[in-house]
Amino acid sequence: CGIVGIVGRADVAPHIVDALKRLEYRGYDSAGVATISDGALGRRRAEGKLVNLERRLADEPLDGTIGIGHTRWATHGVPNEANAHPHFSGDVAVVHNGIIENFAELRAALIADGFEFHSQTDTEVIAHLITRELKAGKDPVSAAHASLRVLRGAFALAIMFRGDEDLIIGARNGPPLAVGHGEGEMYLGSDAIALAPFTNAITYLEDGDWAVLRRSGVEIFDIEGSPVSRRRQQSLGTAYMVDKGNYRHFMEKEIYEQPEVVSHTLANYLDFANSKVKEFSLPFDFAKLDRLYVSACGTAYLAGLVGKYWIERYARLPVDIDIASEFRYRELPITKNSAALFISQSGETADTLASLRYCRSEGLPIGAIVNVRESTIARESDAVFPTLAGPEIGVASTKAFTCQLSVLAALAVRAAVARGTVDAAQEAQLVRELSEAPGLAHQVLKLASQIERLARDLSQYKHVLYLGRDTNFPLAMEGALKLKEISYIHAEGYAAGELKHGPIALIDEKMPVIVIAPHDRIFEKTVSNMQEVAARGGKIILITDAKGAAESTVDTLATIVVPDVPEIISPIIYALPIQLLAYYTAVFIGTDVDQPRNLAKSVTVE
Ligand code: G6P
Repeated sequence: CGIVGIVGRADVAPHIVDALKRLEYRGYDSAGVATISDGALGRRRAEGKLVNLERRLADEPLDGTIGIGHTRWATHGVPNEANAHPHFSGDVAVVHNGIIENFAELRAALIADGFEFHSQTDTEVIAHLITRELKAGKDPVSAAHASLRVLRGAFALAIMFRGDEDLIIGARNGPPLAVGHGEGEMYLGSDAIALAPFTNAITYLEDGDWAVLRRSGVEIFDIEGSPVSRRRQQSLGTAYMVDKGNYRHFMEKEIYEQPEVVSHTLANYLDFANSKVKEFSLPFDFAKLDRLYVSACGTAYLAGLVGKYWIERYARLPVDIDIASEFRYRELPITKNSAALFISQSGETADTLASLRYCRSEGLPIGAIVNVRESTIARESDAVFPTLAGPEIGVASTKAFTCQLSVLAALAVRAAVARGTVDAAQEAQLVRELSEAPGLAHQVLKLASQIERLARDLSQYKHVLYLGRDTNFPLAMEGALKLKEISYIHAEGYAAGELKHGPIALIDEKMPVIVIAPHDRIFEKTVSNMQEVAARGGKIILITDAKGAAESTVDTLATIVVPDVPEIISPIIYALPIQLLAYYTAVFIGTDVDQPRNLAKSVTVE
C-alpha cells in the first residue's frame, strides 16, 4: 500500500521506516525493508504494525545506502512475513502496490521455466520475470522495462538490483508514485507526504511512466522506452497531511485514486489467490436472516441501493433500503431474524446514526460500512466493514462510493455462499470478476480527455436527465447527484423504464439525456427508451461498451465507450465516467469543486 525507495549517502533503513510511518494513514497489515550492502541483498519483514519491523531492525540492523521499503495491504496471500514485501528473485528486489491481473498465467509460465515461488503474492512474479530477462543477457534497466511490458493490471513498483548499488527503478500504472530530488540522493515514494522529511522537490510520475533513479538524478520514460519530461515542483507535503499532488482538486485526485483504493478494499474481503470470499467476522449469520435493513444518506444511500440488487440477486436475501432520515421516523415493523446495515463515509451522519440507534433499541444486530474507523457509527456497530478509501476531502463523494460498492459486492458474495445460492465454482468466478475491477477502473480513467470535451458541451445546459436500469438505475441517480452537487445544474436520475410515466414530458433539445447502458440482458429495453427520447428531439449521451455502441441504433450526441466488464463490477466501473463528467462540467462552469456551496462533507445535524 505504501512504497518508499532511497538511493542515498548514509544508511537508509531507518529513513525508509520513517517514510513508511508517514504512509501509515493509507492502511497496511505488514511491512518490510530491503537494502544492498557490500554486494549483498538484505531484508527485514514483519507482520502487523511498523513497530514490529522496527524491533526486527533493532535486533538485526540493516546496513546499506540504497534500499526499498513497503507497507502492505494483503491482496494475494495472507498478511504474514513470507508474503510481506520486498520480494527477491536472484539479484532482484521488488516492492509493489496494486494487483497484477495476469499473475496466474505468468506464474504458471515461470514455474514451467523452473522458477521457485516462496510466497503467494502476485508481486513475486515481477521479481522472477526480471530475473528471467537478466539471465537472457539484458542489463537491469532493459530487463525491468521488458518485464513491465508484460504486466497487466493497476500497479506501482520499486525495483533494485544486487550488483548496481546506484539504481532504483520506479514504475507507475495506476497507483501514484512520486520521485523526490535530494542533494546527491534520490527518493521514491507513494506520495509527497512520505518524502517530506527528505525533500519537497517532487516530480509526480504520470500513468504509464517508469523512472530510473541514480544518486545523480532521475530519467523518466514512457512504456515504449522514450524519454519523457515531467515537471519538478515544490510540494506542500510538510504542511498538509494530504496534498493534491499534481491534481487541480481533491475531487480529481480522489477519482484517480479509485483503482488503488478499490483494490485495497476488495482485497480486505476477498482472497484472490484462492478465488474465495474471506471469513471476516459478521454480527449475524447470513444463512439465518430473513431480511436485511440498509439505510444511509446521499451517495452512501445510492451505494446501498446497488447493494440491494446484488444481495437479492446473488444471495436471494430480501433487502429493505431506506434514506436514513425516512427510516428513523417510518415506524416500520421489524421482521424477526433480521439485521441492519448502515453505510457512511464519515461515520458521523446524524440521520444514519439515529437510524442505527433505533435498530439498536429494536435489538437488531448491526453492521456498518464506514470509511472513518474511529467514527461514532463504527463504534456503535457490532461489526465494522471498513472501506479502505483513505481520507476523502472533496465534499462530493467519489472514491468512498466505489469502495462502498466494493464492500457491498463482497458482502453479497459472502451472503450467497452462506445461503448456498452460489456454488464454489460460481463463488470463484465472482471473485475473479471482482479482481478485474481495479484494472478496468484504471482503463476507464483513460477516457478522461473525451469526457472533458463532452463536459464543455454539457456545461451549457440548465437541466440534465440520467437514465439506467437495474444496478445502473442507482448509478443514474448518483450521476445526477454528482452533477447537481458540484456544477449546480439541475439533474435527475430515473429508472429508464419509468421515463414514459412522467419525465418524458420534459424532453426537448434543451435537456440532454445521459443513458448508462452496458450491453447486458436488458440492454434492448434501454435502447427502446432511448428511441422514445430521440423521437422527441432529445439529445442522448450514451455510456456503454463496444457491443452496446454497435447495437444501439439510435443517434447520439456522444457515445462514451467503456471496456467490456463483467456484470457484477459494472456499477463500480461505470461510476468513473459519471464522476469525471460531473467534475469537468463543474470545472468549466468554475464552481468551487471541492467545497460546493451549501454542502458539508459530514452532516451531523438532522
Ligand atoms: C453529505 C455529503 C455527501 C454524503 C452524505 C452522507 O451530504 O455531502 O457526499 O454522501 O453526506 O455522508 P456519509 O458520511 O454518511 O457517507
